[in-house]
Amino acid sequence: MLWPPTPDTKPVSDAGLERIYAYPDGLTEPWVQVNFVSSADGAATLDGHSEGLSHPADKRIFMLGRDLADVVLVGAGTATTEEYAGVKRGERRRERRQRLGLAEVPPIAVVSARCSLPTDCPLLTDTRVPPIVFTTDAAPHERHTALADAGAEVVVAGDGHVHLPSVLHELGERGLLRVNCEGGPRLLASMVAADLVDQLCLTVAPVLAGAGAERIVRGAVTEAPRDLALASVLHEDGFLMLRYRRP
Ligand SMILES: NC(=O)c1ccc[n+]([C@@H]2O[C@H](COP(=O)([O-])OP(=O)(O)OC[C@H]3O[C@@H](n4cnc5c(N)ncnc54)[C@H](OP(=O)(O)O)[C@@H]3O)[C@@H](O)[C@H]2O)c1
Repeated sequence: MLWPPTPDTKPVSDAGLERIYAYPDGLTEPWVQVNFVSSADGAATLDGHSEGLSHPADKRIFMLGRDLADVVLVGAGTATTEEYAGVKRGERRRERRQRLGLAEVPPIAVVSARCSLPTDCPLLTDTRVPPIVFTTDAAPHERHTALADAGAEVVVAGDGHVHLPSVLHELGERGLLRVNCEGGPRLLASMVAADLVDQLCLTVAPVLAGAGAERIVRGAVTEAPRDLALASVLHEDGFLMLRYRRP
């Protein structure tokens, strides 16, 4: 919805949202959309979680991000803090993905240099499809084996740190081209530093979190700022749902 609304401003339908957030047609290599929510003063969390910054409209777009993707990419910190499980197969998701010719649910791919996920985490125990864990040769090999035995597909993509271009290459080899990255801040910082972000879906919550909380990027430093072009703006209850694309 445009702001300020006029008498003929209409809410965006599900079909309209699908058109706005559609991945580009004819992809031949992975294309990365990133989803984040931030307070108006730039905090990525309230009390250590993103939940307090969210809104049903933000959740609708977050869920749509999963609906339209071939794979969900997430850092081990977020997967653990937010207690990630496999993507669920709701009625709307099933209809949408079937209609768009996508797999029943997208797998979750986790970036973990240390291969640190616990073997009893919901990502492994509560999922319809095996998660993919991108890790390093430096991680203890018992961890590789433990996660593989617990049902993960373990892929080594680097020595001391996970090499993100290799991660995307591996996803591309599996035909997983529509990549929906759900963070968190350390993974995003590395993605920005490697210039791998094609689209940022950023919800700005109408709240001042104050000092203390992290920004949506933390860690790896980027040599030069990456320009973005504003692609769409939606608004509900004071929340702004912004979509920026690589120009
Ligand atoms: N506002 C939002 O929209 C939003 C979104 C997502 C998360 N969050 C919040 O962010 C917090 C988690 O932050 P975080 O920065 O720890 O999470 P993160 O980026 O999800 O995870 C960081 C972890 O990812 C692994 N990693 C491996 N290779 C990496 C690489 N090349 N670059 C970056 N990370 C790599 C490391 O795991 P190992 O230690 O296993 O090697 C690292 O500790 C939570 O509080 C969560 O609620 C907020």
